[in-house]
Amino acid sequence: MARVAVIPGDGVGLEVMREALRVLEPLNAASGLGLTFEHFDFGAERYLRTGVGLPPGQIDTFRRDHAAILFGAVGDPRVKDGAHAREILLGLRFGLDLYINLRPCRLYADRLSPLRGERAIDFVVFRENTEGQYNGIGGFLKAGTGDEVAIATEVNTRKGVERIIRAAFAWARCKGRKRVTLGDKSNAIPAHQLWLRTFREVAAEYPELEARHLYVDNLALQLVQRPESFEVIVTTNLFGDILTDLGAALVGGLGISASANLNPDSTPLFEPVHGSAPDIAGQGLVNPMAMLLTAALMLEELGHGGEAVRLERAVQQAILQGQVTRDLGGSLSTSEVTDAVLGYLGLRAG
Ligand code: NAI
Ligand code: MG
Repeated sequence: MARVAVIPGDGVGLEVMREALRVLEPLNAASGLGLTFEHFDFGAERYLRTGVGLPPGQIDTFRRDHAAILFGAVGDPRVKDGAHAREILLGLRFGLDLYINLRPCRLYADRLSPLRGERAIDFVVFRENTEGQYNGIGGFLKAGTGDEVAIATEVNTRKGVERIIRAAFAWARCKGRKRVTLGDKSNAIPAHQLWLRTFREVAAEYPELEARHLYVDNLALQLVQRPESFEVIVTTNLFGDILTDLGAALVGGLGISASANLNPDSTPLFEPVHGSAPDIAGQGLVNPMAMLLTAALMLEELGHGGEAVRLERAVQQAILQGQVTRDLGGSLSTSEVTDAVLGYLGLRAG
């Protein structure tokens, strides 16, 4: 038995999680995966009621008792500054030390890309997830005056840099990929030479893989001009955040972008890249595919690679047949898309 913590969150998070479970539950039963789903109501409602985003001790519970966390999205216009969202999502990512943010960018149908012609886009970004510029170190001096100073400190530790680079190379070897590309800015930010040095050291242990280094601005340019030349990209937290949105745009947008937050020694967290989308929440318009592909990433990580591939193919089948929501140019509702995916999986829509 593997216990999966289910956190729908806010807004469309609730809707896409419902769709994910409409697929995962029958798949679990039909294939005998032995998963149990345990629901947690962390999100804006509970925060507004109790003032608590993530209850004390929750991280230890997840680390001890759960094989995975499946997460929808958090964010609610009623909560100023997204305080609860930070507490919950950053709390989990940092608290569980999930240093790998893995984001696949795969083009399922040429028409989904803004690029012309037939394209074979299929790369994975390994974004560092615990350091860089997203650590809260810094602040303001003489705030609100003409002499104001705003400082943010970027953190790059040998341990942190090495472990994400190792993860990228190990994944590439395991998946039979041939090339790993580092994106940094070591020409202008001397601290990034730590990335370049570490990258070259680790690359020496993987002689069968081509290790390529690009400055991140050039990497962004090439990602648009030659996306097919990328297989695995490893980069900092900030650069990874930006490049993965670019990557999402190349293959169809937020409605189909999935991600995993991993640490082999901790409890992984799986979430779609998109947020709670208050502009379309509650109208049956949200594309459930990002969440379904996220569920596929979770199945793979839990050792059910066969089911993961079947689910991904079923999603692709629905895309190829035009059974998609508005964001992908179709007219189906959220649940009709899931019905189509269930059909391709040979499971009955419930
Ligand atoms: P967002 O990702 O929620 O939405 C951006 C745009 O994309 C919106 O127009 C939305 O309708 C559309 N969109 C997003 N997902 C879609 C889907 N699956 N199908 C169809 N259209 C989709 O980002 P936004 O608007 O910047 O943030 C909204 C709230 O979500 C904020 O409170 C923000 O802080 C939070 N957020 C939470 C994240 C998370 O939980 N991981 C990530 C990003 C934002
Ligand atoms: Mg982002």
